[in-house]
Amino acid sequence: MKIILDTAHLEDIRKYNRIYEIAGVTSNPTILSRECADFFPLLQNIRQEIGDKELHVQVTASSCTEMLLEAKSIVNILGKDTYIKVPTNEEGIKTIKQLKHLGYKVTATAIYTAQQAMLAASVGADYVAPYYNRMNNLNMDSRQTITEIATLFKLHHCETEILAASFKNTNQIMDALLCGAHAVTASPQLYTQMVESPVIDHAIKEFYKDWASVYQDKPIYELK
Ligand code: E4P
Repeated sequence: MKIILDTAHLEDIRKYNRIYEIAGVTSNPTILSRECADFFPLLQNIRQEIGDKELHVQVTASSCTEMLLEAKSIVNILGKDTYIKVPTNEEGIKTIKQLKHLGYKVTATAIYTAQQAMLAASVGADYVAPYYNRMNNLNMDSRQTITEIATLFKLHHCETEILAASFKNTNQIMDALLCGAHAVTASPQLYTQMVESPVIDHAIKEFYKDWASVYQDKPIYELK
């Protein structure tokens, strides 16, 4: 099970990389545009921060020829291990196929259906990224789609992994994992929400209070 940060905000990446065992960072043109920074310098800083963990960078062109050129320049600057995110339409499938022949790592993105995932996997994508919340917004069944993809991959001994994305709440993240996603990528603040809440806070404060009622403010390491 892999936890990935869906952000290009360097401070957050630094902070959450220290707290959690993150597997890497994903980005897309929208996420990068929020940082108002130069494309490659920002990604190089992220690469430096996460070391050899996964970095997923999306191409922005629409033709196979141009996506291949973009992928080459991404890999030249950020390293061969960078995952090239390619939107999964027909031109994207053609691009993924060629990138895999060239030995690139590829994440097939903008997945809304099991059919898209199946075709991306058939040309060797390393990951498929189904969009949980965006499917929900369209009244599509995200749980069923991820379950179908997971079943399909298992049934056919497919090595492609499911990297579920597009989350707006913590419940969606858990759902995706329970449906068989191998990895999830989400805004760092959603991971915080999983462990910071009034009820958790209340339980922890009760322990402090009960401890203090007997030992005042002494920590265990000062006791004999
Ligand atoms: C990640 O691969 C996707 O680009 C991202 O999670 C999409 O999220 P959004 O639906 O919140 O834009």
